[in-house]
Amino acid sequence: MTERPRVWVSRPTYPDVLARLQPYCEVGSEPAERKFSAAELAARLADCDAAIVGLKERIGAAEIAGARRLRIVANLAVGHDNLDLAALSAAGIAATNTADVLNESVADFAWALLLGAARRVGAAERWLRAGHWQSTEFKAWLGMDVRGRTLGILGMGRIGQAIARRARGFGMDVLYHNRTRLPVAVEHECNARAVDKSALLRDSDFLVLALPLTPQTRHAIGAAELACMKAQAVLVNVARGGVVDDAALAAALREGRLAAAGLDVFEGEPRVHADLLALDNVLLSPHIASATIGTRRAMTAVAVDNVLAWFGHGPHAGRPPNLLNPVVLAAAATFPHQEPTR
Ligand code: DGY
Repeated sequence: MTERPRVWVSRPTYPDVLARLQPYCEVGSEPAERKFSAAELAARLADCDAAIVGLKERIGAAEIAGARRLRIVANLAVGHDNLDLAALSAAGIAATNTADVLNESVADFAWALLLGAARRVGAAERWLRAGHWQSTEFKAWLGMDVRGRTLGILGMGRIGQAIARRARGFGMDVLYHNRTRLPVAVEHECNARAVDKSALLRDSDFLVLALPLTPQTRHAIGAAELACMKAQAVLVNVARGGVVDDAALAAALREGRLAAAGLDVFEGEPRVHADLLALDNVLLSPHIASATIGTRRAMTAVAVDNVLAWFGHGPHAGRPPNLLNPVVLAAAATFPHQEPTR
């Protein structure tokens, strides 16, 4: 009997979901969430056929140099800026993500940040907990109205579209800017109008970022872009740290050139720029936009499906449904299909 593929899971997930691998693979999960050094990561990748990893694992040429048996890296995220796809493809290693299953949770959270920043929820709660609430004042804690205003979305993929759909309930005008314009039917369904980036910056009362981090989108919102926005505008980032220049954002918020921000992602997270931490008009969360039980289970299930498919099992045998580097299909070695060993 051929040896069964070994799957390394870099963090605790859901054992009952991973159990679907067990008829075909040996599965080893890390018992606790932690940050691996590059050398630790390389050692683990050298010892498995499949790796189910997350954003903390940055995988490039150096980390896979000794990974002779590694065939697939399944990312527990839709964003995959932690993976060097060129290096993985060159080594014939498949890479997959968890597109789609987290769209609705991330869209919900974008709205939580938008509403929370507009209505100063974080600062008001801190003030209350600090024991400052002595009387209720008519003109205290005034925030911004959302209904009827203009929502701008930069990056109109499936998450951006889910954010747009929710705006109907708030009677908002929705503008978007994207690399490619959406089909008219999708624009209609999202009630959204394509504009160029400068119009998006100029006209949005609420600007939500939902675009991937790539070399082209790094600092897509920097000092120059912030200078084009309304002073009363609110910026929300559920995309990636690095899409925004955090120092420039903090300066704009501090100097009243932007009213507020809601941020789930940061440059260099888990560190957060000290200037942002010092401000009350920014609502901060620790990269949790997709963190619901249902979604994190679904993300695990997608990673499992992708690994099974790459090893020739299930409805997508041979072609993982979330394959990021289809170039590996042509070069794929023929894997011996594993029969369940129950
Ligand atoms: C993603 O899926 O890219 C999220 O940011 C991770 O939670």
